[in-house]
Amino acid sequence: MAFEIVRPADTSVAQFFQRSERENLKSFFGFSVIWHEQSHDFAAVVGGATVGALTIRIAASLAHVERLFVRPADRGAGIGRALLANSEDVANYYNCHKMTVLVPSGSTAQRFFEACGYHQEALLPQHTFKIDMSVLRKFLL
Ligand SMILES: CC(C)(COP(=O)(O)OP(=O)(O)OC[C@H]1O[C@@H](n2cnc3c(N)ncnc32)[C@H](O)[C@@H]1OP(=O)(O)O)[C@@H](O)C(=O)NCCC(=O)NCCS
Repeated sequence: MAFEIVRPADTSVAQFFQRSERENLKSFFGFSVIWHEQSHDFAAVVGGATVGALTIRIAASLAHVERLFVRPADRGAGIGRALLANSEDVANYYNCHKMTVLVPSGSTAQRFFEACGYHQEALLPQHTFKIDMSVLRKFLL
């Protein structure tokens, strides 16, 4: 079969994946799947000002911490832990059995998540920006 590889400027690729999604997921997982993805934002607010925030993405009964940041002046006061705990409650509500996050291996972020009950599940050598990254997880159910 003669074919060529192109980089379409229109929406034909998105449309192709949309049309073939059900069949694609079934052949990938080996069973029928309905994919639903959502994200949730959480903010820590002091006197109307946001001092910290967290976003999780939920799909396939998994929740993932996409981003988490507490303003340097407000760290060490339990804000990160409270944001994470609230996001775990929401993930739980949506029947997620596990929360994951990717952090630089051995970083302060890793120590923070470990203090919040997360454990290293995998080490990805020379990953983001070629540094070693740890996949951390906490089982929720
Ligand atoms: C990581 C971060 C979110 C922590 O937020 P925080 O509000 O300071 O954290 P908390 O005060 O809720 O700390 C919770 C626990 O984590 C641990 N912890 C927090 N920062 C730590 C650090 N720098 N080193 C070691 N442990 C730390 C503490 O043990 C603390 O437990 P304790 O309350 O019993 O002392 C914050 O430092 C930050 O925004 N860092 C930069 C961005 C980042 O790394 N984000 C995570 C990537 S997804």
